[in-house]
Amino acid sequence: MSLEQYKDSSDYRKIYQQIENLGLVEHIKHLDEYGYAVIPPALVAPEAFQERLLRAGLRVHERRTGEKVPLDDIATTRLAKDGPGFGHGDVLSDDPMFQEAVMNPTVLALGKYLCGNRAVLSDMLFSIKQKDPTLTHPLHTDQHGTPPPLPPYSQVANVTWVHTEYTKENGPLAIVPKSHLKSRYPTLEEGDFLREDAPVKAIPVEAAAGSLIVWHGSTWHGAYPRESAGLRLGLIIVFTRVYMKQISDLRNTVPKEILDRHPVEFARLIGANSLYPLSDDKTTMREDNAYMMSAARNPWA
Ligand SMILES: [Fe+2]
Repeated sequence: MSLEQYKDSSDYRKIYQQIENLGLVEHIKHLDEYGYAVIPPALVAPEAFQERLLRAGLRVHERRTGEKVPLDDIATTRLAKDGPGFGHGDVLSDDPMFQEAVMNPTVLALGKYLCGNRAVLSDMLFSIKQKDPTLTHPLHTDQHGTPPPLPPYSQVANVTWVHTEYTKENGPLAIVPKSHLKSRYPTLEEGDFLREDAPVKAIPVEAAAGSLIVWHGSTWHGAYPRESAGLRLGLIIVFTRVYMKQISDLRNTVPKEILDRHPVEFARLIGANSLYPLSDDKTTMREDNAYMMSAARNPWA
């Protein structure tokens, strides 16, 4: 029995149809083969949307730290606080732009391709990185806590929205191509990919501003320290399979008025469709049961 048998199922075909409609087939092949893919800006969102989303991230930074970073200064500015930068977690409810970003068809299709139709948003984090020699992210996987051998399918998907160009000097993502096929975590020694004699070689993932970088939950990855002036900015969108625990408790923290502004798909995405715990409302038990029965048969349900 293998995952191939599900590729004829309506659940899987529904996802693949989206991949085809959005022009993502070649990128998905790369994702399957190498464990990651870069989706160019033209397949993601118009420029005006890209800028509005980035401005929303900078507003979060200002609200949480009191520091205003003008958009025009991001290529040269240095943060008031020394160190590698900030990761502002759980930003979904902070700005309607983040809610639009997670509903972006390309973002959603990638999340579902890796985590199934019932994929849930696990966290959304706005990342700011500046010049600093610290290795903040040695090689690791985002598949936290799954006992090895790691499954051949993804339980977690990382879709990172690149706001500023990723080059080797700009402190980009480091990836070990095909490492998702190893079915295990890197050891501590393997994690330090910057050492001269590093046992595992990583490559920098270069991407234009406005791209998405997507990777499999089992892919070994880290981050190069930023060597150049200015800021590297990105929005990290993490999906997970419906039976996994979300990083942020979105199901219980996203305000109702936000849910009311969006289609039902959004409520499902924040975990209102989590398999367990079952709903308290006994009248919905039939729906819960129907879903349990379909999820018991197909991992892409
Ligand atoms: Fe990671």
